[in-house]
Amino acid sequence: MDEKKILKIKEAIKRNFEQSPDKYETFEQKHGFFSALNAALIDTLDVRGNLKILDIGCGTGASSRQILSAIPDSNVWGLDNSPAMLKIAENNNPDPSRLRFIEGDAGDLTSFVKERMDVVLYSASIFLIPDYKASLNQAWSLLEPGGKLGLTYMVGVFENRGENAFVCADNQARTNVSQKKPVELDSLTLFVENLFSGAKVQTKDFICDIEMLRAFFSIPAMSAGLYPSLVYEDRLKMLETLFSHLSCDKLSFRWNLITATKQNSQAIL
Ligand SMILES: C[S@@+](CC[C@H](N)C(=O)[O-])C[C@H]1O[C@@H](n2cnc3c(N)ncnc32)[C@H](O)[C@@H]1O
Repeated sequence: MDEKKILKIKEAIKRNFEQSPDKYETFEQKHGFFSALNAALIDTLDVRGNLKILDIGCGTGASSRQILSAIPDSNVWGLDNSPAMLKIAENNNPDPSRLRFIEGDAGDLTSFVKERMDVVLYSASIFLIPDYKASLNQAWSLLEPGGKLGLTYMVGVFENRGENAFVCADNQARTNVSQKKPVELDSLTLFVENLFSGAKVQTKDFICDIEMLRAFFSIPAMSAGLYPSLVYEDRLKMLETLFSHLSCDKLSFRWNLITATKQNSQAIL
């Protein structure tokens, strides 16, 4: 992807998150979804003790707070490029002596982070970072030898019989729902495998009811992923039409958890 396109996508994503903090936080307070997702990632990484942990794309701080409560001896740095999301994170910081927030771009990590880290996480953020290769190379360089990387990637919403629920519903709803993401899963997985000389990929299904999924995709930034060319009000109308054609009450919200450990390989630019 060329530089111009990367910049355009990043600006659009930043604008969308700048409009999202209230709805995002209301959703998280009610459903605790991002915290549960990060808990699954931390379990998979199997890390504990006095660790330095970087949480890239920390948003309103749900993942950073979850890290601190799961690993109370850790020191956590949450980085995000949306001042509006970070404001909520700062307001809800349970322990400023252990948890610090940094405003910065994931594609230019080493300008904002100078500490070496034991763990670097991208909790529900890597698929939003079109220059993920530059970001991961810098994450790799920030990691101590033996340090760990953890990513969660949103795969989609699926019916019991394995079909993509939004694609099925859209066959009738005709809202032209998009399934494209700025970062493609196969390319990302391959890149992590090469950079870290191996990676573990685990698929995790969260069984969710329609109301929870509606609240998730009503967050301005999330609805923009489904209907990128529409303004927010029109996205919500399309979402309602799409959801009225979903055929089950419970659906699988599928995420891939990708984890890797730093060996002595070279970063790939
Ligand atoms: C879905 S939210 C996840 C937030 C948080 N990790 C959580 O678990 O609630 C994704 C976050 O990534 C941030 N983000 C997207 N692109 C970014 C970039 N290039 N640099 C830094 N943060 C970015 C967004 O602003 C947003 O807050």
